[in-house]
Amino acid sequence: MSDTPNSVLTAKGIAKNYGPVVALRSVDLSVEPGEIHALLGANGAGKSTFVKVLAGVIHQDAGTNHINGDPVSFKMPNEAAEAGIATVFQDPALIPDLSLDQNLTISGLQHRDVEPWLERLKLANYDFGLLARDVPLATRRLIDLARALALDPQLLMLDEITAALTPEQADLVFDVMREWKRMNRSVLFISHRLGEVLSICDVATILRNGRDVANFSLDGVEESELVAAMLGEALAGAAPAADSGLTSSVADDTDVVLKAIDLDFRGKVNGISFDLRRGEVLGLTALEGQGQDELFALLSGDHRPNTGEIIVNGEPMVARSPYDAIRKGLVFVPADRQEALLPQRSVRENLAMPLYNRIERWFNLRRDEGKRVGAAIERLDIDTRAASQVQRLSGGNRQKVTIGRWLVEDFEVLLCFDPTRGIDIQTKTQIYELLREVAAGGASVLIYSSELREIPLVCDRVLVMYDGAIVHEQPAATATEEILLTAAHGLEVVSS
Ligand SMILES: Nc1ncnc2c1ncn2[C@@H]1O[C@H](COP(=O)(O)OP(=O)(O)O)[C@@H](O)[C@H]1O
Ligand SMILES: [Mg+2]
Repeated sequence: MSDTPNSVLTAKGIAKNYGPVVALRSVDLSVEPGEIHALLGANGAGKSTFVKVLAGVIHQDAGTNHINGDPVSFKMPNEAAEAGIATVFQDPALIPDLSLDQNLTISGLQHRDVEPWLERLKLANYDFGLLARDVPLATRRLIDLARALALDPQLLMLDEITAALTPEQADLVFDVMREWKRMNRSVLFISHRLGEVLSICDVATILRNGRDVANFSLDGVEESELVAAMLGEALAGAAPAADSGLTSSVADDTDVVLKAIDLDFRGKVNGISFDLRRGEVLGLTALEGQGQDELFALLSGDHRPNTGEIIVNGEPMVARSPYDAIRKGLVFVPADRQEALLPQRSVRENLAMPLYNRIERWFNLRRDEGKRVGAAIERLDIDTRAASQVQRLSGGNRQKVTIGRWLVEDFEVLLCFDPTRGIDIQTKTQIYELLREVAAGGASVLIYSSELREIPLVCDRVLVMYDGAIVHEQPAATATEEILLTAAHGLEVVSS
């Protein structure tokens, strides 16, 4: 557990900022031979950033790293591979527009290198001529793993690989992990599924706010103890999350603007029902891969539910495309800002985008519309020196534009998916203020956030999703981090 002369990996004081965002403050961690080491922590704790530093994908601002006692400082991922580290990253690493074979080639591998592993992962004879984008996510994750295993690493790092897998597929991954242990090699394993962590891992290091706050053997430990360790000092206070002064209370009997009734979708969304009231900011939180992506795809008209209904202002919505949802007044702000904006256009043009829906009006805004766009620019407080091209804006400012765009046209419900991920605190606060204004203006907001500590800052009410279902609901004012984290892990919330 603690650093020994034999440690495979010894990281000390690893720190990393993304501009104003502090991702890692200082992390110490060592991994021993023959050890399956869990790296745990709430969303945003810094797990993926730590893995990326070790893998040479990003470079730390401070701290040292040793492999088998030798100091290393990787500039490129292939240097980590040569030193015996292979990684399956949280974000799928295959390039979507290349075939699987081409993806192998660019990582310096051939099909025969991965073949034995594909067999182990029940993917023998899989068609590697397929474009990666046409391959299901779970299969892509397994191919990522086969690619990592083909490097024959001494240390295998797996960042939330099981989130997308079926239990049967996850078992195949566990078999490989056990084999690594038998060979006296090591695994660094990240997963929110605490049951699997306890059954397969030997020790755990807990990250919180970019620091390692605990390190212990998992012998005889229970799931609730892991959650408590992740909460760290927050547990002691157990007070409701800080009151930002932003939230309001919405009377229970206010009109329901959006009603979801028993939504089911491909086994990922299982019987979801909820009401969103006028003027309400409703929060949704969940760990990775609990069906939140699919739920938002249903609400924004990107998919249709297998069963169940979406009612907007008392009328069922049958959306064949996102455009149908927009016409019903449901507008969507995706997490990926690139996807939502025209990068080479100005802030003004991007803000006016919803008004351009009708093609004949392109570049032909009515005067009052021009004014609204102007007012939105002022409201958003965006540095206009960079305003001529949205791609020159910082991530936070880009996100303000994606939300601000909808301020120029009337809508009923703003669907926001993880709008503040990777954004500095100050811009986050501005985005929350913007969302509260939207609600105060009579519209409603459904916001999914992976950073569950932040949800109570902006929401009136919180829903927690686990395994495709809503497992917990409560007023945001009393939603402690302990409650949210416990519910998000599918554990029973005892007191509230
Ligand atoms: N590319 C990035 N740019 C800006 N901030 C980022 C980036 N990647 C991660 N962050 C931020 O760094 C923090 C740690 O993120 P991450 O390492 O992904 O945490 P975890 O994997 O534990 O959920 C979070 O606050 C996240 O928003
Ligand atoms: Mg992560």
